[in-house]
Amino acid sequence: MDLGLRGKKAIVTGATKGIGRAIVEQLVAEGAEVGFCARSEDEVAEAVTALKAKGGHVIGGAVNVRDGEAYKAWLEATARALGGCDVFVPNVSAGGGMDSEKNWWKNFEIDVLHTVRGCEALMEDLKKSGQGAVVIISSTNAIETFAAPMAYNAMKAALITYAKQLSQFVGKHNVRVNALSPGPVYFEGGAWEMIKGTNQKFYDATLRAIPCGRFGTPEEVARVVAFLASPAASLITGANVVADNGFTKGVRY
Ligand SMILES: NC(=O)c1ccc[n+]([C@@H]2O[C@H](COP(=O)([O-])OP(=O)(O)OC[C@H]3O[C@@H](n4cnc5c(N)ncnc54)[C@H](OP(=O)(O)O)[C@@H]3O)[C@@H](O)[C@H]2O)c1
Repeated sequence: MDLGLRGKKAIVTGATKGIGRAIVEQLVAEGAEVGFCARSEDEVAEAVTALKAKGGHVIGGAVNVRDGEAYKAWLEATARALGGCDVFVPNVSAGGGMDSEKNWWKNFEIDVLHTVRGCEALMEDLKKSGQGAVVIISSTNAIETFAAPMAYNAMKAALITYAKQLSQFVGKHNVRVNALSPGPVYFEGGAWEMIKGTNQKFYDATLRAIPCGRFGTPEEVARVVAFLASPAASLITGANVVADNGFTKGVRY
């Protein structure tokens, strides 16, 4: 199936490693032109070089999405450099943790505000696209009890509500907005590798909760993002798509 992403302009946040990196690679493989960011300048430069070596049309920038002004300036400059924006994937998260109130501010500013600021900064471009699509990266932690009452889980839930309501608001401009909730995703250097090393019991219990007994991969998540971002998913908006290999147990209808 041709997803129809060839020539589309996409912006992805937090994409030098893990799920974000796989999303950029998948969008590039589908023929999209992609702008992405992360904080580490060296890692952005490495990713740009690697993706260009594969023939990708990419531009990268070093920015901390928590810095509202710098982030907005980066988004605007990237959209101008690409010649517009058809697809936006806010992917950065502050991650889990419940050691202090600081986590709540961090998860609010990074998970929620960076998504909202990004949608607002890019909305005119997304409207002009005629086939605009936003894919907000949430988590199964938002929809089922997981681990502890963490800011991460609550803020990921806020993103699902935001995606639904934004989709209603901008639907008349042919902009689709969806949330995507991956279950546990394992990759080298990622959170689950760290958990495996520090809390083997929790890691094993999580693995046992996945019926086929394996974690997801960044590439599997990236393929769902590419579909949702593409004109091939023209009927899907306001959804929270769960991609978790059966990790969640709730029946939703
Ligand atoms: N991994 C999982 O099991 C899992 C499961 C469900 C949902 N998710 C969600 O999927 C998304 C990606 O997760 P991941 O595990 O791939 O993350 P990750 O391995 O921590 O990668 C995060 C990426 O974002 C960049 N980044 C981090 N903070 C940033 C900031 N403040 N500003 C700009 N860039 C920043 C990192 O580079 P720098 O450090 O250089 O900035 C890196 O490129 C997150 O929204 C996460 O909540 C993950």
